[in-house]
Amino acid sequence: MHCFECGKEYGEEPASSLCDCGGVLELVLNENFPTIDDFRGVGVWRYSSALPISRRIQSVTMDEGNTPLIRTKNLVPERELQLFVKNEGQNPTGSFKDRGMTVAVTRARGIGANTLVCASTGNTSASAAAYAARAGMRAMVFVPSGKIAGGKLVQAIIHGAKVIRVNGDFDASLEIMMEEAGKRKDLYVVNSLNPFRIEGQKTGAFEIFEQLGKKVPDYVILPVGNAGNISAYWKGFSELKKWGIIERTPRMIGVQAAGASPLAEVFLKGKDDLVKWKNPETVASAIRIGNPVSWRKALTAVRDSGGRLLTVTDSEILKAQRDLASKEGIFVEPASAAPIAALRHLRDVIEKNSSVVCIATGNGLKDQGVVPVDSENLPLISSLKELEQYL
Ligand code: F0G
Repeated sequence: MHCFECGKEYGEEPASSLCDCGGVLELVLNENFPTIDDFRGVGVWRYSSALPISRRIQSVTMDEGNTPLIRTKNLVPERELQLFVKNEGQNPTGSFKDRGMTVAVTRARGIGANTLVCASTGNTSASAAAYAARAGMRAMVFVPSGKIAGGKLVQAIIHGAKVIRVNGDFDASLEIMMEEAGKRKDLYVVNSLNPFRIEGQKTGAFEIFEQLGKKVPDYVILPVGNAGNISAYWKGFSELKKWGIIERTPRMIGVQAAGASPLAEVFLKGKDDLVKWKNPETVASAIRIGNPVSWRKALTAVRDSGGRLLTVTDSEILKAQRDLASKEGIFVEPASAAPIAALRHLRDVIEKNSSVVCIATGNGLKDQGVVPVDSENLPLISSLKELEQYL
């Protein structure tokens, strides 16, 4: 375990999960590289030979991962693009967070931690709460006041987490949580700055490779908030290459909502430093983040892979969400529709016939408030006669 920014090495993660220099940590396997024959079983733990967890620790799992990779039929002409959607909304708590949480909470168990803590735009808190319940641990989650999707809050509450609202946005929630966690040894941070979370999330890349019949897609497109997940997928593909399992890596494309796009700004302006945004605003509340912690990892992923970062507007996101639901039968939350919305902007970038995987990070049922439903004006009948009149 070492710091991604200054290189300092660590034997165990510090209380805050961040390096003394403020950088995010990274885990690197230096020997005993796995081969494809080492992958056994189903889901995230199929890749345990590639995960930094001792086999002596019993995993805290709910069979996460092994999510469908769905070839789209109607969104784009099949002759033009091989478009796939990786439906991470089918994980146990309805988002990709479970991939990382199963590994981070297993690590927490291994080092004897008993209280998980996180700041969250919703999905991380839902996942942390559920895995804490599963592990017999406590969870304390910090969420931005009034700005989190109802379904996600319901999940955190039903799983028994202590939910604390922070008067401010996600960035303010993270700051307060980190200050508290930095002071207390009994709290284990499960935000995506936890390097074990990233290890679990990288298995999404392994699955895509196997699901495509041991092929690497040309492009992988993800929504970017705190910038952990795109870094995790890049780590997964880079490791497959390092271990000699694949020969080339895909181009990584990150998509931010226009109203919350500090990282896309760095890329588009060709800068090397991130300027945090105050009061980010977007309908995609999961990625309403102005100060992405893992921005440097993500920028490296995008640059090293030959990819890019771009922005989409809220109306493009909502249209993409509706298109995916009404043309393919896949209902995702707004953040997860951002990669689909980005396709239109990438027409001149993505070569004809390329294979493209969009990561659908979260289930649409979590954030029902964004879909306008005028139930009063739906037809109401009391008899077959009225039905026939209506039809
Ligand atoms: N999509 C969804 C549905 C998310 O919940 C998140 C992040 C992202 C994309 C972005 O991933 O942060 O790794 O770049 N949600 C976090 C949370 C911030 O608290 O649930 P990222």
